Amino acid sequence: MDRLDLFPVSTKIERDTLTIAGHNLASLADLYGTPLYIYDRATVDFAAKAYTDALSAYYPAPSHITYAGKAFLCKAIAQWTQAHGFFVDCTGEGEIAIALAGGVPREKILVHGVNKSSADLKSALQDAGTIVVDNLTELEGIGKQVDRYTGKQVSLWLRLLPGVAVHTHHAHTQTGQHDSKFGMTREEILQAAHICKSKNLPLKGIHFHQGSNFRDPEPLIPAIELALDLAKEIGFIGEWHFCPGGGWGVAYHEDELPHPSIENYVRGIAEAVVEGCRVRGLDLPHLHLEPGRSLVARAGVAVYRVGAVKRRDSKTWILVDGGMADNPRFALYGARYSCLPVQAPGRERSERVSIAGPYCESGDVVIEDLPMPKVEDGELIAIPVSGAYHLSMSSNYNGARRPAVIWLEEGNARLIVRRETAADLLRREESL
Ligand SMILES: Cc1ncc(COP(=O)(O)O)c(C=O)c1O
Repeated sequence: MDRLDLFPVSTKIERDTLTIAGHNLASLADLYGTPLYIYDRATVDFAAKAYTDALSAYYPAPSHITYAGKAFLCKAIAQWTQAHGFFVDCTGEGEIAIALAGGVPREKILVHGVNKSSADLKSALQDAGTIVVDNLTELEGIGKQVDRYTGKQVSLWLRLLPGVAVHTHHAHTQTGQHDSKFGMTREEILQAAHICKSKNLPLKGIHFHQGSNFRDPEPLIPAIELALDLAKEIGFIGEWHFCPGGGWGVAYHEDELPHPSIENYVRGIAEAVVEGCRVRGLDLPHLHLEPGRSLVARAGVAVYRVGAVKRRDSKTWILVDGGMADNPRFALYGARYSCLPVQAPGRERSERVSIAGPYCESGDVVIEDLPMPKVEDGELIAIPVSGAYHLSMSSNYNGARRPAVIWLEEGNARLIVRRETAADLLRREESL
């Protein structure tokens, strides 16, 4: 696979410089500074269409996409979700506030969380259409408050712990295994359904999520079977909702296979649900899929400027102006990336380098051991597949100010998140 294929679909090399949607990355870096995050609209639209086309081709009942806001949420991205009519998965009060600011209507807001605070629950009951209940204690809390806030405008789904995880590159991105902290066991789900019935709570669906960044759909099948068994036991009839989560993977490095096919993933789920409902005599549910990464990761590119190069016998370090503060994924779970220089990206890859940031941690690495052309200080480099779980997990470590984010369309580049300033760092602080 060619390194350029990791980049957004509108990426080209023009006059020996990387461009996205016709915008020269060097000019954008000069204008907005670095580190800079870029999102390409054509790429998010391309992924969105792949999902909606596949759902309408393979699933004969109503179906919906829920964008997992945890991948990256800001007002502009929330607005983009509404251009496609997507639901938005919000983890708690903070993400609900962003979704609302982006104009997401109540019925399209779905709330997740493994230990929702009372503020999260209050906000969910006031402003969301769906709450995915993680545990029995939470259900009890909802039962006490539901009438006060919403008059039961909200639907409840139960989060199942299927006891089967998907294969991801690191245990920290698995959530479906039997000892995971997420969701309810089979027995707890039945207990929760009983409580909902006895308290007349608006139970409308079942959900599970087995992990993030997988490309083998096989483990979905036993989890879908278990969820449908439970749906039958609970007695869902007519309009009910089923969501087998998100987590479909993307390629981060040219060594990986091409980007996994969204069509095959959706088709596999749709066929399993249709057949599973047929054999159990269940009505077909509204099928919801909940992707984050596979919608936005490839659309995002991080642009860094090289500050210094340390060429030693043992290793060559390229030191850039961003790292674990805007992208903690290497430090968290050894994520792999690739990279191209912004100028003359076709140069011969003549040395193996590691790329690291300016932060005071040896784990502040962006890429380890990658063949690269000889880049020198002052040059710009572009890291593809930077659109998911970078800025949403970013920090102010070492006083880092979070980067600006630019939304690119042909003929139009919009600043959608400005760079943080030192004043932003001090905004919440008081003197002694
Ligand atoms: C409940 C839930 N749904 C969806 C997702 C989205 O996963 P991904 O971004 O890998 O598609 C996550 C990610 O952790 C999640 O926890």
